[in-house]
Amino acid sequence: MSAYLPEVEPIAREAGTLLMGYFAKHVTIEYKGDVDLVTEADRASEKLIVQRLQARWPEHGIVGEEGTRSETEAEYRWYVDPLDGTTNFAHGYPVFCVSIALVRHDGRLEVGVLYDPTRDEMFSAERGQGATLNGERLQVSKTKALAESLLGTGFPSHKRHKNPNIHFYHQLTLRSHGVRRAGSAALDLANVASGRYDGFWEFNLNPWDTAAGVLIVQEAGGMVTRFDGTPFRLDSREVLASNALIHQELLQNFTEMFAGRGLEELPSVAEYVKIRS
Ligand code: IPD
Ligand code: CA
Ligand code: CA
Repeated sequence: MSAYLPEVEPIAREAGTLLMGYFAKHVTIEYKGDVDLVTEADRASEKLIVQRLQARWPEHGIVGEEGTRSETEAEYRWYVDPLDGTTNFAHGYPVFCVSIALVRHDGRLEVGVLYDPTRDEMFSAERGQGATLNGERLQVSKTKALAESLLGTGFPSHKRHKNPNIHFYHQLTLRSHGVRRAGSAALDLANVASGRYDGFWEFNLNPWDTAAGVLIVQEAGGMVTRFDGTPFRLDSREVLASNALIHQELLQNFTEMFAGRGLEELPSVAEYVKIRS
C-alpha cells in the first residue's frame, strides 16, 4: 500500500486543473533568459503545490523551479516543476504537465508523480512498487533494436548556442524510426515508461525536470543512465532513458558519436541548392 501517492496525486491534479484554467486564456510571457519563458501560471501552480506539501509534510524540504527553497537540508525533499513545457503552454500547444517527486537526502528517488491535464493522465511511481498510468500498471516497450525504435529528445532554452544536441538528433534520426521533440522532458520520460517511446535523451536537464519521470521509467522496467552508462543521479544533467533492451545500443552510439566516428554526412545547403535544380 502506497504511503504517499493517495495524497500527492490529488495535489498534482489540482495544479493541473489550475494550469488548464490559464491555458484557455491569454497569458503574459516573461523571460528568465534568452528563450527561457515563465508565466503567471507557472508561479500560481508552484504556490499551490508548495502550500499543499508544506501543510501535509512540514518537516520536508522543497525545491521548486520557480524559486522555492525551503528546509533544503531536511531528510526528505520535494522537487517540483509546476509546469514542465512552459514554451508549449505559452503558445497554446497542449503538451505540458506537472511534476512532483520526493527524494531522500542521499539522492534516492522515493515517489514520482506526473500529471498531464490535457489528456487527464496521471503517471505515478513509488520506489519498489511499480509504476502506473491512471491506476493501470505501466510497462516499457519490448522493442529490441534501435533501428525499430521511436525516440524523444529535447533542446535547452538556456545557453542554446552551446548545445551539440542537433548533431545527435541528426544521427539518431537516421538510425531509428524517428526522434520526436515534444517540449516537455517530464512527459518524454513518461512516454518511455508507457512504451510510447523506446528511448529518450537530453543534455542539460534540472532535477525538477527529471526526478519524477526517472523513477517512473525505472519502476516501469526501464533503464536510466548518463551518456557514458554510469548511473543517473539527481545532479546528472545528462539523461539517457530507455526500455533497457536498446540501452546498450544507444550507449554504443553515444560513445561513437562523442568520438566523432561513423557520423553520416548531410549535404550542405549549397550542395542541396545545386542538386534540387
Ligand atoms: C523544459 C522542458 C523542455 C526541455 C527543457 C526544459 P520547462 O522545462 O522540459 O522539454 O527541453 O530543457 O527546461 O522550462 O518548460 O519547465
Ligand atoms: Ca521543466
Ligand atoms: Ca517549469
